[in-house]
Amino acid sequence: MVVGRGSRVVSHIRLVEVGPRDGLQSISGFVPTDVKVAYIDALSRTGLSDIEVSSFVSPKWVPQLADAEEVFRCIERRRGVRYHALVPNLEGLERAVAARVDVVAVFTAASETFSRKNTNASIADTLERFAPVISASPVPVRGYVSTAFVCPFEGPVAPKMVRQVAIALTALGCQEISLGDTIGKATPDQVRRLLEIVLPDVPADRIALHCHDTFGQAVANVQAAAELGVRVFDGSAGGIGGCPYAPGAPGNVSTEALVRAFPGLTGVDPEALAAAGRMITTAIQESGTSL
Ligand code: HMG
Ligand code: MG
Repeated sequence: MVVGRGSRVVSHIRLVEVGPRDGLQSISGFVPTDVKVAYIDALSRTGLSDIEVSSFVSPKWVPQLADAEEVFRCIERRRGVRYHALVPNLEGLERAVAARVDVVAVFTAASETFSRKNTNASIADTLERFAPVISASPVPVRGYVSTAFVCPFEGPVAPKMVRQVAIALTALGCQEISLGDTIGKATPDQVRRLLEIVLPDVPADRIALHCHDTFGQAVANVQAAAELGVRVFDGSAGGIGGCPYAPGAPGNVSTEALVRAFPGLTGVDPEALAAAGRMITTAIQESGTSL
């Protein structure tokens, strides 16, 4: 156990590994399917309980993940690991269910411009699209709120906007809400301010924090959230990542750094994780593609 600021005891941290989806989605050259499968299989052997494998989005919008079906068909499914995928609409849900996904994630934003650039829809339209997706989903649904701190197009985002979107996703039936620092500009103070506004309506046990790491603040941000009771954090092994529709979006906070931040609390084997991270970063470098 770790005692955080204000003597709050931090325990049972759950990590959601997003490297195979968020980490790979904006890499310019196509990462071969067998490399993706080997990366996911290596991650499955680390002790991680949740791995976001791919996206069932439009292949025209994210060509890197056009092989989502094949990846799901080829991975080795380990008992105790939940395999997640992003879905933007009913077409995505049908594909995800056929691929036997364990958790689906819908995604919207707290800023209008990012929502339109990322999904060709306003925030209200995305929520309307999600209603039938969430009610038809046979598996639990996670909801992402991107640009929870700063939008690459509009600048700082008002916490009350994030709160409103998080409440709407919860009311639609999302079991967990992941708040995205999409371009990695949040600070620990901003994390505290945001959570103070969101947590009265969406409790900490339903919140996750999804940090990209532009200025090396991500681990401090995660620790600030942990002190307020958040227990779920997204990361990518190898620290790869970024959103193709968010200019300047850097890699996700590395899962390795999250495991180091919560020693003994994540159930993840640091060496096996480091090996998975090395495997994918080497494969990306050797293939001559760029992040
Ligand atoms: P659209 O073009 O407005 O969609 O895109 P549409 O409904 O008009 O359909 C156009 C075509 O796409 C049709 O095909 C559809 O069948 C097809 P056509 O008739 O032209 O041949 N289509 C699909 N095909 C396969 N699977 C589907 C699907 N849906 C439509 N599910 C849409 C709207 C939402 C689909 C599009 O904008 C899209 O796919 N966007 C995804 C963008 C994306 O994946 N961004 C990255 C993930 S979000 C992120 O990284 C942030 C996060 O990490 C958190 C953070 O960091 O903040 C989660
Ligand atoms: Mg992201």
